[in-house]
Amino acid sequence: MAYLVAANWKMNKTNAESLEYVNIFKELYKEYLPNIEVMIAPSFTALEAVGLALNNTTIKLGAQNMYFEEKGAFTGEVSPVMLKELNVEYVILGHSERRHIFGEKDEIVNKKVLSTIKHGLRPIICVGETLEERELGKTLSVVERQIRAAISGIEREVYLVDIAYEPVWAIGTGVNATPEQAQEVHKFIRELLNSVSRGNDKNTRIIYGGSVNEKNARELIKEKDIEGFLVGTASLYPEKFYKIITECLEV
Ligand code: PGA
Repeated sequence: MAYLVAANWKMNKTNAESLEYVNIFKELYKEYLPNIEVMIAPSFTALEAVGLALNNTTIKLGAQNMYFEEKGAFTGEVSPVMLKELNVEYVILGHSERRHIFGEKDEIVNKKVLSTIKHGLRPIICVGETLEERELGKTLSVVERQIRAAISGIEREVYLVDIAYEPVWAIGTGVNATPEQAQEVHKFIRELLNSVSRGNDKNTRIIYGGSVNEKNARELIKEKDIEGFLVGTASLYPEKFYKIITECLEV
């Protein structure tokens, strides 16, 4: 399975700024790089324009969130049907900002995961411990709880999802997990997925997120169980994001 390197722009970039970025990025990313899948997740309002600009490229379009119902009285929410219409392929779910700022619980993340799969979208399920949980030695149990809950009901079909390990203390802080810290958790996740899916996890990428940049990407991607990145801050700059992608070549 190809690595997955994904840009999570969060609540940044207007339509015009998004298009400006994509035009620069397309100039950089002219040649398809083998074994690396690239995805960009702009804000909802820029999805259509970015999707059109990415037409005829190998770059995939992603959304940063989604509601699980198809339509109805859910003011302010966006449905899987709406995303499909815009050629969205990936949906980031359970991001720590969704969990901590917007109170999203494991059960909601699970409903969203099931809904993406029903609609042929591929979820990137985010999991990760807080600093307090790490210091209490709870990292692996927190990650296990989040993953088991998120994939409840599709245990044998985990090849339909990707997992992003994003320690909360590393997100947007400039302090990334060390390659060893990340590898320990990625290995644990791989073993967990392998066991719950009874070996159906080969197409599930386990990617790392949390202060990834063009300087630390190489060391991180060298680890056996790190299969790509979910990049926030550094992904806002086309040159930096492109450099992170090329750092994943031939490791
Ligand atoms: P960061 O964000 O790269 O700014 O740490 C990562 C993320 O939240 O996905």
